[in-house]
Amino acid sequence: GRGLVVAVDGPGGSGKSTVARELARRLGLRYLDTGAMYRALTQLALEQRIDIEDAAAVGELSERAVISVGVDPDAPTIAVDGTRVDAEIRTRAVTNAVSAIAAVAAVRGRLVAQQRQIIEAAGGIVVEGRDIGSVVVPDAAIKVFLTASTEVRALRRSRQLGEKGVDDVARTLAELDRRDVLDSTRAADPLAVPDGAIVLDSTTMGVPEVVEEVLRHCGQST
Ligand code: C5P
Repeated sequence: GRGLVVAVDGPGGSGKSTVARELARRLGLRYLDTGAMYRALTQLALEQRIDIEDAAAVGELSERAVISVGVDPDAPTIAVDGTRVDAEIRTRAVTNAVSAIAAVAAVRGRLVAQQRQIIEAAGGIVVEGRDIGSVVVPDAAIKVFLTASTEVRALRRSRQLGEKGVDDVARTLAELDRRDVLDSTRAADPLAVPDGAIVLDSTTMGVPEVVEEVLRHCGQST
């Protein structure tokens, strides 16, 4: 059965993944990282040297590729055509190409359908992405939109990548900015604050505070 569904949306570097996984652990739910699915398809497109701007070719690829996700919040996994790609999907090359792939309507149609199947079968799940509360599960019991200033998000991302220099942060910030613009302005399911979402800004709030705040809302509405 379906169980409790918590939707967590927001831009890159907002702390979504950390918050969503911790929420899943605390609530005893499964965890689905939908960004990993778009990244997995992107990794495959790059590996097969498919032109990421060629929507028809990318759409076809999404019909052939079999993406499998593991939904344990303590050990989420992602595989394409049976091969695990957990590390490969986090490279800079994938990060900078993923928005083009995610803008293709045929790709979204396919991945959203798969996400809904996973959610229906999960028996309770925290789902993170860009369009979860708005498109994938508009009737989710709890919707969270997590944001933070671009500077703070770039610093976090830069740290995750193990960067040290000021130039690196500047470059990461420019790339993050570009991805925000692409994700927010695309025609198909753009990043947006869903109706009924709790909007939290993690610029100054730590992860534990954000998690407590969401748990308070869960207690009120379940
Ligand atoms: O969350 P993450 O940064 O891993 O997402 C990678 C990319 O996947 C986003 O920049 C966006 O282009 C795409 N995405 C999406 N819809 C989702 C999740 C991710 O379009 N639900």
